[in-house]
Amino acid sequence: RIAGPSGLTIFGVTGDLSRKKLMPAIYDLANRGLLPPGFALTGFARRDWANQDFMQVVYDAVKENARTPFHQTVWDRLAEGIRFVPGSFDDPEAFDQLAETIKELDTERGTGGNHAFYLSVPPSAFPTVLQQLARCGLTDQKDDAWRRVVIEKPFGHDLSSAQELNDIVNDVFPEESVFRIDHYLGKETVQNILALRFANQLFDPVWNAHYVDHVQITMAEDIGLGGRAGYYDGIGAARDVIQNHLLQLMALTAMEEPVSFSPRDLRAEKLKVLEATKPVGPFDETTARGQYEGGWQGGSLVPGLQEEGGFADDSTTETFAAITLEVESRRWAGVPFYLRTGKRLGRRVTEIAVVFKRAPHLPFDDTMTEELGQNALVIRVQPDEGVTMRFGSKVPGTSMEVRDVTMDFGYGHAFTESSPEAYERLILDVLLGEPSLFPVNDEVEQSWKILDPVLEHWAAHGRPESYKAGTWGPDSAETMLARTGRVWRRP
Ligand code: BG6
Repeated sequence: RIAGPSGLTIFGVTGDLSRKKLMPAIYDLANRGLLPPGFALTGFARRDWANQDFMQVVYDAVKENARTPFHQTVWDRLAEGIRFVPGSFDDPEAFDQLAETIKELDTERGTGGNHAFYLSVPPSAFPTVLQQLARCGLTDQKDDAWRRVVIEKPFGHDLSSAQELNDIVNDVFPEESVFRIDHYLGKETVQNILALRFANQLFDPVWNAHYVDHVQITMAEDIGLGGRAGYYDGIGAARDVIQNHLLQLMALTAMEEPVSFSPRDLRAEKLKVLEATKPVGPFDETTARGQYEGGWQGGSLVPGLQEEGGFADDSTTETFAAITLEVESRRWAGVPFYLRTGKRLGRRVTEIAVVFKRAPHLPFDDTMTEELGQNALVIRVQPDEGVTMRFGSKVPGTSMEVRDVTMDFGYGHAFTESSPEAYERLILDVLLGEPSLFPVNDEVEQSWKILDPVLEHWAAHGRPESYKAGTWGPDSAETMLARTGRVWRRP
């Protein structure tokens, strides 16, 4: 899978995402020999830069963040195709200049007119950028040359704004040319959910309401928001990651087997699950939200949200969110799916835990099973990527005591191959026109339909509770599960 002749323009090259992920990913792809020799990278931003200045910016980003070793020859070849166009998003002349540059690159680098536009910009800038691209003919699809657009979340703020956004994008690009990035789908361990479920016989017979007690999907981060207040205030944890990453993880965990792994079949199954998913109420009891305050984390004292600055004093933006969902299908009826995420939690970990019911009968004295929990299959998305199975085992000795043990698969031990970074995989897929790992407009809108009632409830109920940095979130999160006789895992 090597990309054919093509080029990429990034809008928003001065942003964090560009420096940390996009530019390094492009270099890594080049280094792995997955980009065409004449690949062209154009940056567009409101900076008084020449090509050379932008080249230096890319070089620094590569040096700082690339995952593969630096090779001068790879860099030199990539650098020859780097261009910069200065301008603001509402400046028609700058876009004419961009069109000119892209045309020149066709000849100089042999990109064949194939070009992707990466909008690493706030959604409020989408309409202007898209209209400008359309105005200068850059969005015209030709038989022998493709044009694609890549958009980053947030895909709207709620259902109606997402619909508006989709309309704006689809006005200019047909849906098959739109690549919405949900970088979790680019993660190796997330794609492995499909292999685990559909390449094996072992798990499917128990993957349903007869055997599964509940599912916990956790995305915990240890970092705070320092410096990101501008983006995050008013958005919050649910919109930032539940609407996209966590609902996608849930869809992959709960969906039926697709007819094939073609993009159409895969998305059809994901969409079916999302359409069957409802938030469970009453939301006072089945959801929780919080805002971190200062506390001890990993041995150091870290500031709370308000001390970090940038947030309104009375901000109601949550940095922790937990919700309860149910998938109304024969397979899942009655099985709660608990989704939680938070900043400044105990540690960084993303996992999907499928927790099984207890055996219907235990032929042991109660004292023998005091240390026996519920069986669980845990997909560790990150870090320590792998899969763990938890089950009871006899404790060595002369009595029949049973205790939980784990059976572990770790990527590091099982494979010598290294995983590509999510953005590498996704950028390559954009250039290849391989859309499987990109959510379509229907999935995005459906995800908002699931979340909107919870968000509306929260909006009408004042400020989130606070929780101390380094803990696992607000007390209400514990109560939320305790009400049903369950507990959150402490990964
Ligand atoms: C992004 C969110 O989508 O994912 C961030 O906007 C979050 O708030 C990030 O920190 C986490 O990504 P990863 O790959 O580090 O788990």
